[in-house]
Amino acid sequence: MATRVTTVFACQSCGSASPKWLGRCPECGEWNSYVEEVRAGKPAPSGEAVATPVAVAGEESEARVAAGMPGLDRVLGGGLVPGSVVLLGGEPGIGKSTFLLQAARCLAARAGEVLYATAEESAAQVRMRAERLGIREESLLLIAETDVTRIVAGAEARRPALLIVDSIQAVYEPALSSAAGTVSQVRESASALLRYAKSRGVPVILIGHVTKDGSLAGPKSLEHLVDTVVTLEGERTSLRRVLRATKNRFGPVDEVALYDMTGEGLAEIANASAALLAERRQGLPGSAVTATREGSRCLLVEIQALVGPATAGSPRRVAIGVDGGRLALLLAVLEGAGLSLAAREVFVSCAGGLETAEPAADLAVVAALVSSARGRAIPGDVVCFGEIGLLGEVRRVPAAGSRLKEAAAMGFSTVYLPAGDAAEAARFQDLAIRPVDRVVDFVKGL
Ligand code: TYD
Ligand code: MG
Repeated sequence: MATRVTTVFACQSCGSASPKWLGRCPECGEWNSYVEEVRAGKPAPSGEAVATPVAVAGEESEARVAAGMPGLDRVLGGGLVPGSVVLLGGEPGIGKSTFLLQAARCLAARAGEVLYATAEESAAQVRMRAERLGIREESLLLIAETDVTRIVAGAEARRPALLIVDSIQAVYEPALSSAAGTVSQVRESASALLRYAKSRGVPVILIGHVTKDGSLAGPKSLEHLVDTVVTLEGERTSLRRVLRATKNRFGPVDEVALYDMTGEGLAEIANASAALLAERRQGLPGSAVTATREGSRCLLVEIQALVGPATAGSPRRVAIGVDGGRLALLLAVLEGAGLSLAAREVFVSCAGGLETAEPAADLAVVAALVSSARGRAIPGDVVCFGEIGLLGEVRRVPAAGSRLKEAAAMGFSTVYLPAGDAAEAARFQDLAIRPVDRVVDFVKGL
């Protein structure tokens, strides 16, 4: 017999509850803080919890299942952890369903049944996508369902190697009166899937839509609830996609994988630096190459700057794919180093579809700005990296050795780097090393 589920409205600020929705919490006075929640009956005491020595605790559940897609496995930290919940976020239309259908196929081919619950699209729509991708694995099973309790029951019946839910905003928990996609629905549905994952040791991947401002639609608490948050980013006008872990309880964050959207789904780019630099035009002013660290790897990316003519009023400062706050700081430092761009429009971008918020890109941003302002190109074989401080000093960066290694591997011959990191460079015989201590000297020497 199914147990009756009751719901209450609870204040998200102080936790007080009421049987009906209230606009303002009578306890803490917070406005609009009441959200509907499922209240299960008080569980009977179920004995004591088992204590295990930390050295061996949880060993059995750590064995990862590799999806068989090198980029995805690397971003996850070596594959899917049984019983873990991964949230794949991204803007609508960026390729989340396509990517997970490809992942589902890889896993189905090597680890057993994969259940793909489609709540947003019909079974026919998913079948058509599968046909386009050439997927016909018998062990990839589809459930077209929006009721989360039925999805969990379906998974209970089959015990798959992986459950995918597309998307968490489109499923609903029938006990709640609110509509799918609301805060309470997204949270309760995710909790139900989380309970399933933890109790059965099955990895679950949820697709989540991201709103315009880049946050996951639905409650912020969804990010706290899940073990891993992975995002698929990119401009819809370009074919380049970047897969990135932003939270990972079982592995590193900021590991990236690059893909191109093709006619047959997303194709991983094996040599990321080469792809990022592919469209670089050497010999033009305003371009500088930096070595940026993404997780365990270093990638070479092109920083472009365009310094426009002086304008009346306040000139624009536009940063695309680089940190706008750091750009303002660098312009102020340049002012102190004798290059005033205060009255001129400044555009800086990270070309190739990757974003870099790393301070280590500072030196390349400055190089690109100086190059554009003077109309003088930086030689095409130069790489610059180093963080710039408020006093115009060039500070050390982490992993200087791997940045140098990538520069050497990609055939670059000259590297400007923080003087403090110059010792690292001794083992790279083919690289001409230019240690930089202060921005003012760097600007003079360029
Ligand atoms: P989709 O996976 O539906 O995006 P999301 O689930 O994130 O909303 O894919 C969106 C776009 O990808 C769609 O415009 C069609 C395109 N696409 C390709 O370019 N190649 C393909 O092989 C597939 C399946 C889709
Ligand atoms: Mg989709």
